[in-house]
Amino acid sequence: MSRRIIPVADFSAAPVIAGPVQTPTGVLHDTLARPLRDLRISVTDRCNFRCVYCMPRAVFDKDYTFLPHSALLSFEEIERLARLFVAHGVEKIRLTGGEPLLRKNLEFLIERLARLTTSDGRPLDLTLTTNGSLLERKARNLKDAGLTRVTVSLDALDDALFRRMNDADFAVADVLDGIAAAQAVGLAPVKVNMVVKRGTNDREIVPMASHFKGSGAVLRFIEYMDVGSSNGWNMTEVLPSADVVSRIAEHFPLAPLDAHTAAETAQRWGYVDGSGEIGVISSVTRAFCGSCTRARLSTEGKLYLCLFASAGHDLRALLRSGASDAGIATAVAEIWQGRGDRYSQLRGSNAAETRVLDSQRVEMSYIGG
Ligand code: GTP
Ligand code: 5AD
Ligand code: SF4
Ligand code: SF4
Repeated sequence: MSRRIIPVADFSAAPVIAGPVQTPTGVLHDTLARPLRDLRISVTDRCNFRCVYCMPRAVFDKDYTFLPHSALLSFEEIERLARLFVAHGVEKIRLTGGEPLLRKNLEFLIERLARLTTSDGRPLDLTLTTNGSLLERKARNLKDAGLTRVTVSLDALDDALFRRMNDADFAVADVLDGIAAAQAVGLAPVKVNMVVKRGTNDREIVPMASHFKGSGAVLRFIEYMDVGSSNGWNMTEVLPSADVVSRIAEHFPLAPLDAHTAAETAQRWGYVDGSGEIGVISSVTRAFCGSCTRARLSTEGKLYLCLFASAGHDLRALLRSGASDAGIATAVAEIWQGRGDRYSQLRGSNAAETRVLDSQRVEMSYIGG
């Protein structure tokens, strides 16, 4: 039987423009005074990995129906929306998936996005999150197309464990080759994201730190999150970032570093011997919703205001209805100005918002990490 487990997306309504035209001014605030600064664009819901915490094979199996090509936003549509978001103040665009490098001719989209400049004339921070499997082959083209940097997911150095975690038999060596290729072409700084699951890969924390220390790549440890509704998340599998830091510091002394920006997801720690830094992303034990400036555009053009949202706003419907730039810009402004999402902060509080969401949250492979 063919099925998808994201019916929530189908309930999302096309935005109705309620007020006067809002011409972009380069700054837009939500109900919690958070500006719109980052846009994360998912370019495919497909992935060649089946990470146990993201696309468990039991759910994302041969009967799972991915989006048909006609449902995807075209590069022209993505560029048009991105331009309007940038006019509203977006400074960083991250391409995600699924696995974004599976989207055919992705470098053509990057070329288009790389031409955009922030509302005060600076180049965008244009990056992507990849599992690294196709990166060695594609790094040069991505750089030439105008990509600024990349973030590569890698959950273990132990090859057998890594293959178990990606559940698709990809080898660690392929990802390491991808990271090396990205560094060689100057997609810098390369960041490496490791999702830590207690009892699964936490024994890899120190080997990973040791491997990337002094390499120029910035390793970040992510607390395993209750995102989506298919990964069977359990708090007992979350290893708090404080434990990650103390485990590493036993071997390599660390000192806290200042954040680059207020909206940064990671807390930074520097090796006292000067050989680089690590980051910890603590969305479970230390929520960062208060400074969340991120909007997410799904593969089929739905705008989500939170990683844990259960419904999005159908910008594709608006685009394909023939709406003008001014109309779309106004819709985006009204949506952002109505935003009050702060799921991680409310998690565990039994607040009504989280109870509704728990059963029907959108999957991370659909909305993008
Ligand atoms: P940099 O600009 O490189 O610092 O990227 P980033 O940390 O903003 O983005 P990245 O995709 O590397 O995020 C790393 C991980 O942090 C994601 O895979 C998520 O697990 C988590 N994360 C990122 N953004 C959010 C967010 O808005 N909310 C929550 N709860 N987690 C997030
Ligand atoms: N918890 C934390 N991070 C996750 N990612 C995917 N699922 C989860 C989860 N349940 C992250 C992966 C990858 C990015 C695409 O999303 O680390 O880097
Ligand atoms: Fe694919 Fe990334 Fe999800 Fe793993 S975490 S299944 S690589 S989208
Ligand atoms: Fe932003 Fe939602 Fe994540 Fe909070 S939980 S940081 S509001 S995306």
